[in-house]
Amino acid sequence: MAIRNIREDGDEILRKKCRTVEIVDDKIKQLVDDMLETMYKYNGVGLAAPQVGVLKRVVVIDIEDDNGPYVFINPEILKEKGEQEVDEGCLSFPNQFAKIIRPAEVTVKALDKEGKEFKLKAKGLLAQAISHEVDHLNGILFVDKIIPGTLEVIKN
Ligand code: NI
Repeated sequence: MAIRNIREDGDEILRKKCRTVEIVDDKIKQLVDDMLETMYKYNGVGLAAPQVGVLKRVVVIDIEDDNGPYVFINPEILKEKGEQEVDEGCLSFPNQFAKIIRPAEVTVKALDKEGKEFKLKAKGLLAQAISHEVDHLNGILFVDKIIPGTLEVIKN
């Protein structure tokens, strides 16, 4: 496993749309392991492949519940329900936090690390994280969805 560099605000790759993973091979498994290690190193809740410079539809999430970490390859949100107003940040925007609206519940379909399809219904923080990370795969960033006036920039 290896820590990968996190692409930050202003890097064009964060705005690109990611490609579908055709085969879950050893290279994808390596990517997943590296993404998990990188996410833990920087204390993130989730990480999407474009954040480490790879334009593939791969997401990892760990909300410290009993079922994680979660790996989503080619995630597809089948259903969204309700809304929640949440505080949000992103490893690609290390000093920025804001309030945004996310779905309260999402139903998602994806492949796991072994390439096996699964379906998951998520609420609360997990629904927020899935929505945030799937947005990354489509070049959408949390700063696009900020409730006006709620952005906080932490100065070092
Ligand atoms: Ni993010």
